Amino acid sequence: MAEVNANYAKLPGSYLFSEIARRTAAFSEANPDVKLIKMGIGDVTRPLAPVVIEAMHAAVDDLARVETFAGYGPEQGYDFLRNAIAEHDFAARGADISPDEIFVSDGAKSDCGNIGDILGPNNKVAVCDPVYPVYVDTNAMAGRAGDYDEATQRWTNIHYMPTTAENGFSPAIPDETADVIYLCSPNNPTGTVLNADQLQAWVDYANAHGSIIMFDAAYERFIVEDGVPHSIFEIPGAKTCAIEFRSFSKTAGFTGARCGYTVVPRELERQDMSLNAMWNRRQTTKFNGASYVIQRGAEAVFTPEGSKQIDETIEYYRANARTIKDGLENLGLAVYGAVNSPYVWCKTPGDMGSWDFFTLLLEQAGVITTPGAGFGPSGEGYIRLTAFGDAGATREAIERIGKLSL
Ligand code: MLT
Repeated sequence: MAEVNANYAKLPGSYLFSEIARRTAAFSEANPDVKLIKMGIGDVTRPLAPVVIEAMHAAVDDLARVETFAGYGPEQGYDFLRNAIAEHDFAARGADISPDEIFVSDGAKSDCGNIGDILGPNNKVAVCDPVYPVYVDTNAMAGRAGDYDEATQRWTNIHYMPTTAENGFSPAIPDETADVIYLCSPNNPTGTVLNADQLQAWVDYANAHGSIIMFDAAYERFIVEDGVPHSIFEIPGAKTCAIEFRSFSKTAGFTGARCGYTVVPRELERQDMSLNAMWNRRQTTKFNGASYVIQRGAEAVFTPEGSKQIDETIEYYRANARTIKDGLENLGLAVYGAVNSPYVWCKTPGDMGSWDFFTLLLEQAGVITTPGAGFGPSGEGYIRLTAFGDAGATREAIERIGKLSL
């Protein structure tokens, strides 16, 4: 009999956002007249920037002519995009990343999961708690997480680092050795950031212990405060210990178009193996590159006009984040994030459970949120709201929540 990956049997329930979609659909079916406002999954709603659309249209025309037709592209991404990324996302910030350290893909979620292909089975993985569930679930699928303990809602072989209001949303450096450390700044779900000193401490730890930091910078374009690095590679020493994931999804509205990239520095080696060479081998074997049309659209993001148009969209979402933060604070709720992030992390009233508050907001206000407990045990007692919606709908959601007696 064929053997399957038995680690899947250990996974609890369904993926968080599928579960929210299921509960929301059930509510909608029973209450078809309620106009729901979505503030759950972090999906963008503003259209792609006009220059991106123009570039994609032109790229489609390229495919219509023999002279400009593009078939299989380079698995690592086209040079035009890798060069633009190296220049604008890194050199412009003083980070020395060369195009051959950049691997373009169909998004950061896939890369965050797929990177596990080049890791051994016995690594001790450390994650923030609460955490973007992809880091944990993909390690569980690969057998690195141990067993799921229902009582603690934790995997036995994962080191959870509480990242809470009590420690200023800065996880403590572990006493034990963590081999693979996932960090996300601006953070999903809390919307908080790590400053340069905090990141330097992690880089120093990783270099001292031979650990690898998996740095998720998918939300970097939302950073407004000084002293907050946009990339781990702004930190001295990071090139020997870190891999970074980036996405055009939240920064440029590509959640449907799909494009992201991963930076694997040439200096990053473990057991005499180059992780850059390993990732290249993995990608060339299992991936045929992001589509030409989409990469042309992504390239346009880096033009002066593209950058301006994208900043306008980001500012639109930032205004939503302020609306949510101010509105909830006016109701007396404790609110975090929202400043350098599209995510607003809100304490539930009266120590209500996350899923209970989620249900209350769904049923009594028609507002879909994400229960903090879905991101890990330390997320219990919180909900996450996203600022990616329509501005009018965002204001209405806050008005509806304001009418509840919390
Ligand atoms: C989220 O809501 O946390 C994100 O949209 C999920 C993702 O980017 O995959």
